[in-house]
Amino acid sequence: MKYTLNALCSLDCKQHDHFGDIHFIRKTSHRDDIIIIDASTAEIFKQIRSNNVLTADFEAKNADRIARLVADNILVPLQRSVGKVEKQLTKQINLWLQVTDSCNLACDYCYIPSLYSDKSFHRDTIFQLFQHFKDIEGLETVHLKLAGGEPLMVFSAWKDEVQWLRTQLECIGISLELRIITNLTRLTNEMICFFKHHSVIISVSVDGLGDTHDQHRKYKNGAGSFAAVMTNIERLHARGISPSVMITVAGDNYLGVPALVEYLIEQDMTFRISDAKGGYLTPAQFEQTMDTVNALLDKAIDQGYPVSRRVVFSDLRTHEAASTPCSMGSHAAAIYLDGSVYFCHTEFQKGQPLGHLSGGQNLLSIIRSGKQKHFGLSDDCQQCQYRFVCAGGCPLYRVNGKSPMCNVYKKIISQVFDIYNKEDGKIT
Ligand SMILES: C[S@@+](CC[C@H](N)C(=O)[O-])C[C@H]1O[C@@H](n2cnc3c(N)ncnc32)[C@H](O)[C@@H]1O
Ligand code: SF4
Ligand code: SF4
Repeated sequence: MKYTLNALCSLDCKQHDHFGDIHFIRKTSHRDDIIIIDASTAEIFKQIRSNNVLTADFEAKNADRIARLVADNILVPLQRSVGKVEKQLTKQINLWLQVTDSCNLACDYCYIPSLYSDKSFHRDTIFQLFQHFKDIEGLETVHLKLAGGEPLMVFSAWKDEVQWLRTQLECIGISLELRIITNLTRLTNEMICFFKHHSVIISVSVDGLGDTHDQHRKYKNGAGSFAAVMTNIERLHARGISPSVMITVAGDNYLGVPALVEYLIEQDMTFRISDAKGGYLTPAQFEQTMDTVNALLDKAIDQGYPVSRRVVFSDLRTHEAASTPCSMGSHAAAIYLDGSVYFCHTEFQKGQPLGHLSGGQNLLSIIRSGKQKHFGLSDDCQQCQYRFVCAGGCPLYRVNGKSPMCNVYKKIISQVFDIYNKEDGKIT
């Protein structure tokens, strides 16, 4: 088939010390509207730019790449069939599914604006989601994060529906990867069986050992939750489930976080370490924590702890270059209790939803209407060597077009790449 290039797209390449050549297409309508592509896709772009007709063999070999370029409106087929509705295309979709606004804890830094509302989960949300998934061309995997509030407080409100969704998707060749984000203060044997049966990945929030955790993650009466969480982690381990840990660093736990990291390394556990958003942590505090944490990780390499496979650093894209710090606006979104679709869970009932599952618009179009939220990067970010690792940080918390943690992120990224190099045996 013959194609022409969208005249508003240009091809560019940036050399990066760690990732090598990063190829990307920029839409000239906005300097931040960037799509990272692989070297083979860049080759297709160049061939068409030099007016070469793609051979049938070449087209067949690159069918996926060409389809993506067409879906992203970078390539325009010259023989578009009349009346054919172009479907939107993605291989995977990642959703935060708010299953409750209730929570038994009262963490002062919690950034869910709808927390403790009196609304409950609309069960038909799951059925509406299924209808949307069916209509997405090329969809192979749905990653669903069950979250809240505390999702395990309302297990019976979603377990049958989620099970149903998994079966229905399986019948049409789509796999459903489930993750639960939980404070793990409530855990029944029935839940453990469900997790095992459906291979649910468990992310448990732990912010320190003992008092450090309790400072943050306390019940409404002020009592700490650490003992209950550790008992439940052990119960999961005893059943062969290894949860990953989510650490949120804030001003009142930052000194205790390294001790937790030491413990997780010892236990060979996976974790993500993030800066609390919303002014709960100063850059100096985060820097102090991360200097110690990265020194621990550097040492852990010598003991065989595979940092690159075990640790995620905030929203930094240290594993693969990316034009944005998260996939929201591209193939990810947050679904509220009533089926409204938000760019991010930190906007529930506060910001404007992008759309609604029952609104007639397809889910990918709703999600992609939020892409602009990533735009507006500062000139510093445009020129930064970490443009495709930090990408300006979370767009909802930038100050003057860049992350308030800018200088700390730069230091962390450089430390992390040194650690990766050591792990790869590139340095000793
Ligand atoms: C909002 S909670 C919901 C799930 C569950 N209740 C829990 O605590 O894991 C999800 C994650 O968001 C993190 N979080 C809450 N407030 C935050 C903030 N201001 N900045 C960064 N992360 C935050 C929590 O620590 C937790 O790991
Ligand atoms: S347990 Fe989770 S949802 Fe509940 S207050 Fe803490 S961070 Fe927020
Ligand atoms: S916020 Fe700072 S580290 Fe991140 S891309 Fe912008 S300039 Fe670079």
